[in-house]
Amino acid sequence: MSENKPPRHIAFIMDGNGRWAKMRNMPRENGHKEGAKTFRKVVDMCKDRGIDAITFYAFSSENWKRPKHEVDAIMLLFRDYLIDALDEIVKNDVRIVFLGDRTPLAQKLITLMDEVEQKSKNNKLLLNIAINYGGKQEIVTAVNKALKEGKTEITEEDIQNNLYTVLSGDPDLIVRTGGEIRISNYLIWQSAYSEFYFTDVLWPDFDEKELDKAIGAYMSRQRRFGGLAESGDLGGEKL
Ligand code: FPP
Repeated sequence: MSENKPPRHIAFIMDGNGRWAKMRNMPRENGHKEGAKTFRKVVDMCKDRGIDAITFYAFSSENWKRPKHEVDAIMLLFRDYLIDALDEIVKNDVRIVFLGDRTPLAQKLITLMDEVEQKSKNNKLLLNIAINYGGKQEIVTAVNKALKEGKTEITEEDIQNNLYTVLSGDPDLIVRTGGEIRISNYLIWQSAYSEFYFTDVLWPDFDEKELDKAIGAYMSRQRRFGGLAESGDLGGEKL
């Protein structure tokens, strides 16, 4: 029995790139390269399926602990995507927004990010890319922003309105590939009522069939938002 409408906002944790490469005796960087290809394909698939917003965890605030060559490889893949995205802003109709603290990133990259955000701002599909992102840090930043606005007592609304995800709202569905069953400091505020879908499939192998499986699982569930199933008005429309 189908309980939910399709998700309006899907968030992805793209895990398993390193293992995908290891299984092929390749350096981890090759896994990220393949993962970046999958990311581009999944954006197109979500566009084809009429999803309103998608969020990807590209680099967490903890990922700086990885070897420099691996961090550099991820940043280069990210930069390459932004350069291509800038070229295809009209054709792609994707609005790109970045979640996270961009201050430690290379200045050239920050300038490119600003340009992409600015030039894509009238496009339709909202694509959030989390880069140097951490959920706890996001909440602290949101509280501090509200305090700077002169608030003396912080409400849930003050935090919600100051999160990086102010445009997209909360995800209906969070998909994590790579077999780990944890949230890893991702959208911890926003996921209060999200549905979770975990799969062992490694991110580079995540394809159309897997995406439809995740969406199908979401649609077969019943969201109650803390209420009772009998109380009506429980569709997937609440973000
Ligand atoms: C997790 O896999 C993946 C990452 C930390 C990086 C994700 C980055 C990309 C897919 C490419 C760049 C992004 C864009 C937006 C173009 P892992 O390395 O932890 O995998 P493992 O658990 O198998 O080691």
